[in-house]
Amino acid sequence: MESSAPAKIILFGEHAVVYGEPAIAMAIDLRSTVKIKRSDKFLINGESPDSKFHGYIKKAVELYWNESPLNVVTSSTIPHASGLGSSASITVSTVSSILALQNDWNKEKIAKNSFEVEYSVQGRASPIDTSTVTAGGTVLVSKKDFAGRLWKIEKDNNSWFINNIEICDLSLIIGCSGIRGITHEMVDKVRRYTEKSGFARDVIASIGNITYSSISALKDGDYKTLGSLMKKNQNLLSILGVSHPNIQSMINEVEKYSYGAKITGGGGGGCIIILTDEKDEVLKILRNRGWSSYKVKMDKEGVKNY
Ligand code: PMV
Repeated sequence: MESSAPAKIILFGEHAVVYGEPAIAMAIDLRSTVKIKRSDKFLINGESPDSKFHGYIKKAVELYWNESPLNVVTSSTIPHASGLGSSASITVSTVSSILALQNDWNKEKIAKNSFEVEYSVQGRASPIDTSTVTAGGTVLVSKKDFAGRLWKIEKDNNSWFINNIEICDLSLIIGCSGIRGITHEMVDKVRRYTEKSGFARDVIASIGNITYSSISALKDGDYKTLGSLMKKNQNLLSILGVSHPNIQSMINEVEKYSYGAKITGGGGGGCIIILTDEKDEVLKILRNRGWSSYKVKMDKEGVKNY
């Protein structure tokens, strides 16, 4: 069985979503592929599975496969540790191939099982990455049930509604700082801050308000409003301590040519998303400074099994 799943960016609301605020993510046209077949030995890319390098695949197989060993082969065009959902994409592709082999392939089950895998590998997490790369398109994760509900995910007294939202035809530039962003470290940092500071909790609530305000601008393709909301969201993420000097330099360099730019995902490094009409100019600036960059658009399909 062979499955593939897209990458994702978070348009608004990362970190705040861990505390029950809404967030919006979009699947994008970078992909990972996972091929599995029955074998006499459990192998991942020709090696014995090692939790350090193959944590997500190993956990998915442990949790959801109890027949003869599997030979797993992966490939991916998604940069690692950069807020683009590379682990979620590999997890979803793996779970999809396993469910296909069990004749039980459906997107809701893939999203739920993949969230369980991510949760047991990295601890505290929201289902935003795994559900977005499963569903494709643009996804609003919230405590409220909206029209466009895809499924509901529950864990440890938390529940999230996963809703599909229709937005304008959005194409963005991604710029990568070259600094590895370690999501669980950033999630821990924000947790420590919010536990001791009412101000940090207000910042989280303000991010939630920004996310709700972005919905109509996303639908209408109102780039000016979206850019200004992205800037506000980025300032609040900086206050939470999840930006990085290289991220700030990238944002400064492209500011003149963009409506707005912000981190995608956990931060502490990783990548930014840039909303601009001057894509070629922005790509040139990033490349001249040695930052890898991508022009991306929405992936509508989500996970696929071949
Ligand atoms: O760094 P990423 O792409 O895995 O995104 C993490 C998003 C957070 O909100 C920071 C954490 C989460 O689980 O929602």
